[in-house]
Amino acid sequence: MKIESTVNAVRNQVKEWRKSGLTVGFVPTMGYLHEGHASLIQAARENNDKVVVSIFVNPMQFGPTEDLASYPRDLEKDSALCASLGADLIFHPEPEEMYHEGFSSYVDMDVLTQELCGLSRPVHFRGVCTVVCKLFHIVAPDRAYFGQKDAQQLAVIRHMADDLNMDIEIVGCPIVREEDGLAKSSRNTYLSEDERRAALILSKSIFLGKELVEKGETSTEKIVDAMKERIASEPLARIDYVKAVDGRTMQQIQTVQKPMLVAIAVYIGSTRLIDNFIWE
Ligand code: PAJ
Repeated sequence: MKIESTVNAVRNQVKEWRKSGLTVGFVPTMGYLHEGHASLIQAARENNDKVVVSIFVNPMQFGPTEDLASYPRDLEKDSALCASLGADLIFHPEPEEMYHEGFSSYVDMDVLTQELCGLSRPVHFRGVCTVVCKLFHIVAPDRAYFGQKDAQQLAVIRHMADDLNMDIEIVGCPIVREEDGLAKSSRNTYLSEDERRAALILSKSIFLGKELVEKGETSTEKIVDAMKERIASEPLARIDYVKAVDGRTMQQIQTVQKPMLVAIAVYIGSTRLIDNFIWE
């Protein structure tokens, strides 16, 4: 497995593979990899001749008061995991390699980004779309793998690829959870022992919402209220949002439909965590 830090080195390698007729799967990440990331790399490994993983903490998708500086990093551990999963290449650029002086072109999106995380993180999706678009141009993969954990991000990337005629299959992969239900996240490392226990309220409320839908509840208001009440029972939790939206457009809905996304963002102490379930 190679580790490259320049755009040119990645391009040259992928061109060589392409000349031999090999297919390329791509997993974009911000590193500090866990089993959630690993599941994407495994899916890419199964369906492509070559697998590229990018590890880049993208400054553009963090707001001014967010955790860019403290975002956890461990390239050595990440490389060992990627190698053990059979990845062929890690792209690990410095910010200057991705954003040279005078950088001024962006990929922006309306509608889908104006709900859920887009409301509390106004610059986030512009940063995500811009960097993912750049990475797609650099790696030129056949398939790219994203987790359902970031359901709005997955919907936004699918939409961008479609709008901008990107010839890349976007593959969504299921949420990987800890044994007790907490969705795996690089940000879980911020939690103290008490907060880690309190964070279980996210998956508990998700499972409650899902159960209500499965039992036939059709009012999204009732589902959302029940989930909010469950979260409010945890003193360390503060709700950012709990919403039921159309699974494709991300617009709020009143009645249960398919596909529906029920998504939550909750602060546990100062750490903002997200979780969701899809009904389709
Ligand atoms: P990051 O948070 O590192 O996540 C990289 C990918 O791993 C995303 O597609 C995310 O949905 C997926 N992932 C994270 N936790 C998961 C879990 N518990 N189960 C399944 N998949 C999981 O998302 C980003 O980075 C960035 O926004 C990025 C797309 C790389 C652009 O900078």
